[in-house]
Amino acid sequence: MDLRQKIRVVDDFPEPGISFKDITTLLCDGPSFQSAIRQIADFGRPRAIDLVVGPEARGFVIGAPTAYALGVGFVPIRKPGKLPGVTIRKDYQLEYGRDGLEIHADAIQPGQRVFIVDDLLATGGTIHSCIELVERSGGIVAGLGFLIELQYLEGRKKLAPYEIFSLIQYEQ
Ligand code: PRP
Ligand code: MG
Repeated sequence: MDLRQKIRVVDDFPEPGISFKDITTLLCDGPSFQSAIRQIADFGRPRAIDLVVGPEARGFVIGAPTAYALGVGFVPIRKPGKLPGVTIRKDYQLEYGRDGLEIHADAIQPGQRVFIVDDLLATGGTIHSCIELVERSGGIVAGLGFLIELQYLEGRKKLAPYEIFSLIQYEQ
């Protein structure tokens, strides 16, 4: 099954010069969605995963079924102010202004092995923040899984030495 052909590439979205990789065209095809999740789960399975962690919003769509396929729990990472319990927060600088991500402080038990999953690896900034939140929670990052990797943005370099799996790569 060629999953790459299920991704819709939209040029100049959301702004001129950006080539947007739209996963919704893959998600709405049942066999493609199932194949993608199976392959990401297959990467995680031998790594003795205790939990899958995924960042909102698209990370939920890929991360939650991956957790289900592995028979482990799913922990959401959310934008600030969305999680009701005590949280651990990571703030970061954007081109204009600041933003952040939060995880429930009690979601990961110290020593648990965590598989971090998102739809897309671009610059690696999102996943870098997720790694920090998992490690500050006491979790061990046992792997990183993505549906798509934009190789030209070199996110993989930023995330070394963690083990990375991506299903579909774009070189440019
Ligand atoms: C997109 C994508 C990844 C992130 C990758 O999320 O879903 O999470 O960007 O980019 P990076 O590697 O440069 O950090 P976005 O922030 O657009 O939000 P969404 O998932 O809520 O749509
Ligand atoms: Mg995202």
